[in-house]
Amino acid sequence: EHMPDLVVVGAGLFGLTVAQQAAERAGAHVLVIDVRDHIGGNAYSYMDEETGAEIHRYGAHLFHTSNRRVWDYVNRFTSFTGYVHRVYATHDGEVYPLPINLGTINQFFHAHYTPAEAKALVEEQAGELAGTDPQNLNDKGVQLIGRPLYEAFIKNYTGKQWQTDPSQLPADIIKRLPVRFNYDNRYFKDTWEGLPTDGYTAWMERMAADPRIEVRLGVDFFDSSQPWNKAALVGKVPVVYTGPVDRYFDYELGDLKWRTVDFKEVRYDEGDHFGCPVMNYSDADVPYTRAIEFKNFNPERADRQNPDRTVVWQEYSRFAERGDEPYYPVNTEADRKLYAAYEAKAAAEPQVVFGGRLGTYKYYDMHQVIDTALTAYDERVAPMLAR
Ligand code: FDA
Repeated sequence: EHMPDLVVVGAGLFGLTVAQQAAERAGAHVLVIDVRDHIGGNAYSYMDEETGAEIHRYGAHLFHTSNRRVWDYVNRFTSFTGYVHRVYATHDGEVYPLPINLGTINQFFHAHYTPAEAKALVEEQAGELAGTDPQNLNDKGVQLIGRPLYEAFIKNYTGKQWQTDPSQLPADIIKRLPVRFNYDNRYFKDTWEGLPTDGYTAWMERMAADPRIEVRLGVDFFDSSQPWNKAALVGKVPVVYTGPVDRYFDYELGDLKWRTVDFKEVRYDEGDHFGCPVMNYSDADVPYTRAIEFKNFNPERADRQNPDRTVVWQEYSRFAERGDEPYYPVNTEADRKLYAAYEAKAAAEPQVVFGGRLGTYKYYDMHQVIDTALTAYDERVAPMLAR
């Protein structure tokens, strides 16, 4: 078959951004392959026929950015709704607003503290471990926000995320625990936020709509029985690789560690189960960390949603094995050293650019992935195409 000018492995936001730029700015013929049967990578979503909910297949995705270049770029392919992200938490039979703010504090202490009074109280409670060097997550949490708030809202949630008792977790998992001494419970602080008006998949299909871009699904880069595999391509055509960096090198230096999430779907005979899109469970008695009610991300679609049924996904966090979806880098000191060794090998690969969250072993939000992809196109891919 005729060789394209560029092969992109992975139809996620990194791969699609590079492909779109290469086609538009260099006139390149780009082949995008993905092992999955859909484009979009982890930002992919689909419409649930029964409820009219847009289900984010790989976990809830909220778009937010303060980066003007990224905001202008994404708006070429989709408009955004006015959605503003807010999260609530169930603790000890009550629902509280998050992140911890004056509303959370006054509800928790049955008080009417002013901002200054609440700040003084939290400082006094955090003083319990002032001047000590915390060795585990519990001590660190107490030192940051005091024992009552830490134990109510952080301790068990984090323990469930890591499937480990917080007394056994390293202190450096949390660097800071923001507490707001006003009633602002808007989750993100970015200049722009919203959800793609016609959904994530329509947005990403438009990124791939250039006739010079061809997308082939169900194609594994490491399957040598198909023509677009690693051995057939590397060194012969420029490649952008967004799969796992350790997999690329056949795990020869060892496995990079990830956490994954299992989703359990529950359907209810009611129009609205939570009254909000995201409910965290702060206590140990509920085994999942949080639950997502997808309909509530898109209240503007009420006339297209089922008024009598709703769908909720509960999230269970655990360590990933090979074959699981890798979601969050575990990122211990040992992982960072191992990644540095893979990164050195990646830099020596001829005409291969490693990118995205799997290719660089980093937790990136969507806007960061798009920003790094635009930069990678300018600095690394465009020069290869010009040769
Ligand atoms: P992505 O993983 O999307 O794409 C890589 C692609 O490569 C995949 O489609 C994969 O199938 C393919 N691939 C891998 N190996 C291959 C092979 N051998 N052959 C062919 N194809 C192969 N961000 C945000 O801004 N707001 C949010 O709310 C969230 N929420 C969120 C929740 C959860 C649970 C996760 C895990 C992540 C988020 N994110 C997020 C982050 C967001 O998902 C992320 O920034 C982008 O999807 C990453 O895009 P990439 O292209 O880097 O990887």
